[in-house]
Amino acid sequence: MRAAYASATKPDEPLAGLTVGDLPEPSPPDGWVTVDVRASSLNHHEIWSLRGVGLPADRLPMILGCDASGVDTAGHEVVVYPVIKDPADPRGFSLLSERWPGTLAERVAVPAENLVPKPAGISFLDAACLPTAWLTAYHMLTARGRVADAGSVLVQGAGGGVATAAVALATALGKRVYATSRDAAKRERIAELGATAVEPGARLPERVDVVIESVGAPTFEHSLKCSAPGARIVVCGATGGPFPKVDLRRVFMMQLEILGSTMGTAEELAALLDLCVERGIRPVIDSTYGFSAVSDAFARLNSGEIFGKVAVDHLH
Ligand SMILES: NC(=O)c1ccc[n+]([C@@H]2O[C@H](COP(=O)([O-])OP(=O)(O)OC[C@H]3O[C@@H](n4cnc5c(N)ncnc54)[C@H](OP(=O)(O)O)[C@@H]3O)[C@@H](O)[C@H]2O)c1
Repeated sequence: MRAAYASATKPDEPLAGLTVGDLPEPSPPDGWVTVDVRASSLNHHEIWSLRGVGLPADRLPMILGCDASGVDTAGHEVVVYPVIKDPADPRGFSLLSERWPGTLAERVAVPAENLVPKPAGISFLDAACLPTAWLTAYHMLTARGRVADAGSVLVQGAGGGVATAAVALATALGKRVYATSRDAAKRERIAELGATAVEPGARLPERVDVVIESVGAPTFEHSLKCSAPGARIVVCGATGGPFPKVDLRRVFMMQLEILGSTMGTAEELAALLDLCVERGIRPVIDSTYGFSAVSDAFARLNSGEIFGKVAVDHLH
């Protein structure tokens, strides 16, 4: 079957290890189900994998991709939950494409418990944008950031998949949302989503109760400075570097919470799908590529210019 996979990993030149070609069909173990993939979407995770982060050479070739929607062998329309229980991994789980083949293929196999019904009111393409970036943003805001108790939220590096999701969801939940982006054009588009868009490091009109951090070193000091007493700084990534300078005096004097966050549960993915359908929220899609142009989709993701998700239509 046709697949986009890592045939090599290159720390400084991630796209050089990307291959699009034929690989064997999945051979699902007992309790696993094969899904005909209708749509998928890319995440920064693919770039990390191609750099060799979390993907050692002995697992190559590895089909990339965490996100998919499709049709299972019984004909049900489903969304794939990409977190696979994995006792061999120190986290107790791994994501699709880390140990088991990912979603950027004609078919993907997952444990039956990893299938979430796709509501009729959302398209395959929109649904395929939710399982990683949007689920992560939802979990960060709700379970980790306790956004229900918050008046305001700051989202750093707001052009990315997680960040646009966080802006859209926090706005839909009725919060005052501030968002930084390095790019003036992205700031304009973030403002259209209902956030007050500012340059990185800019002073905000108020201190916020929740910060959504996926950038890391370049923005973390600003995140600390913008935090109200008792604020939650929720961290899911460190695209710009993992070693920020942290003034611990601010952490203890302001009683800040710095919380790590990874993905979310399958139940939260189902709740997120329902929320999107009920409230008419749809993922922000930067661009959609047919599978035949999947290499271009990777180039777009790697450009750093994206605003929202890069989606892949597997029927074209
Ligand atoms: N823990 C988890 O479960 C989980 C889940 C999903 C993602 N992640 C992580 O979260 C991060 C974001 O993922 P994504 O898929 O949303 O990535 P993405 O779509 O590629 O977006 C990355 C965004 O980060 C900002 N950025 C990148 N480098 C920066 C720098 N040096 N300074 C300031 N901003 C910078 C950019 O925002 P602007 O251009 O607007 O400034 C960019 O739009 C990644 O590191 C990813 O691995 C973690």
